[in-house]
Amino acid sequence: MISAALPPPQLQLRCSECAAAQSERDAAVFCEACGGLLAFELDSSARFDGARYRDVLAERRRSNEVIDRSGVWRFRELLPAIASEKIVSLREGDVPLYEARGGATYANAKRVRYMHLGMNPTASFKDFGMTVAISHAKARGARLAVCASTGNTSASMAAYAARAEMTAVVLVPDNGISEAKLAQTLDYGARVVAIGGDFDAALEIVRSLDVERFAIVNSVNPLRIEGQKTTALILLESSGWRVPDWVILPGGNLGNSSAIGKGFREAHALGLIDRIPRLAVVQAAGAAPFVRAFESGDPLVPVHAETTATAIKIGAPASWRKSLAEVHASNGIVIAVPDDAIADARAVIGIDGIGCEPASAASLAGLRVLVERGVVTPDDDVVLMLTGHMLKDTAYAAAYHASAAPFANAIARVANADEALRHLDRLARDA
Ligand code: F0G
Repeated sequence: MISAALPPPQLQLRCSECAAAQSERDAAVFCEACGGLLAFELDSSARFDGARYRDVLAERRRSNEVIDRSGVWRFRELLPAIASEKIVSLREGDVPLYEARGGATYANAKRVRYMHLGMNPTASFKDFGMTVAISHAKARGARLAVCASTGNTSASMAAYAARAEMTAVVLVPDNGISEAKLAQTLDYGARVVAIGGDFDAALEIVRSLDVERFAIVNSVNPLRIEGQKTTALILLESSGWRVPDWVILPGGNLGNSSAIGKGFREAHALGLIDRIPRLAVVQAAGAAPFVRAFESGDPLVPVHAETTATAIKIGAPASWRKSLAEVHASNGIVIAVPDDAIADARAVIGIDGIGCEPASAASLAGLRVLVERGVVTPDDDVVLMLTGHMLKDTAYAAAYHASAAPFANAIARVANADEALRHLDRLARDA
């Protein structure tokens, strides 16, 4: 294990709404004074040698220790303190960046990369935050972790809780989540409670639970946000600390945009980078209360959410205030895209040999709109966050390819060997 030999910056737990300092109860999720969401605030006034830290990180990449190789725990000085033997890791976080060739052409842009957060142990970005939330819950002796989920949080929580030998309980919308996500959750041994309502109703139930009895690991838990902020650090580290112009990502409950914005802001405050990228949060048009709040300047008004991108079918996002603050701090933007644009963008990402789940493709669909509107210029350096793996929702992909959609890839059905050979001959001629 390679130590930074630097005094780590201090993190103070505060209410993100009324700013009240909170006692360091590890169980804390909501403000003791006003009930608002908590956040770990970084005190960047202490001297921090950013250049030396970048060298330490490079050394850690060559280490075989799990906590050096994990793309979350490599940045442990910037996370709430925990003894290293208490860390529950599945070697999450070190995800790849890929050149987005077809995606760039589709959006009429030139310099576009995919950062594939679906290349995590449970195949979504949730693992960045879950390793931190579950490690701390286990360290303080919690026996039971709980979350509401559209599927990915539940799969991630189930895996990390299993590694921590904790009981995991998930509340999911009945019929609302993909089969793959449910299968993962069941396989990892979590107890699944399917409710008649939607995600918003499930989260409401979770928020009413006694935090002493249930470790709540939704992104209302500030430890989740701390873990997910390292997404920004991995992006910077894997880009040689060059800052992209734009980072575009889907928005549902709005924890991830809060976290990634925080990561860039802190990297800047600590002298790791000299500017921050602009954030674009993209919602599905049928689940876009954040767009209205961003455009009007008024508090968010919850909506009844409808979208085929089930991961972001959320009408009352819990972290909208945090996310809005990050969007403003980055001079960013919030937009919505229709479901059919998400479907086509998802197929384009597939043709790039990469693939992702539907919600993730809101990023590419969003880029296309932003280039059209002249907000993103074709020369801008853009990173699209792909939040979940293609195999998370194969039913969606199968239905797309069986349809008449623009990028549908129909199966050729042949009756016998002769027909098969004729078909192969045509393909060989066209290749
Ligand atoms: N993309 C995917 C694949 C997701 O699963 C989610 C959220 C988001 C984007 C949106 O991120 O909520 O931080 O704004 N999934 C949650 C879940 C709600 O329960 O798995 P967000």
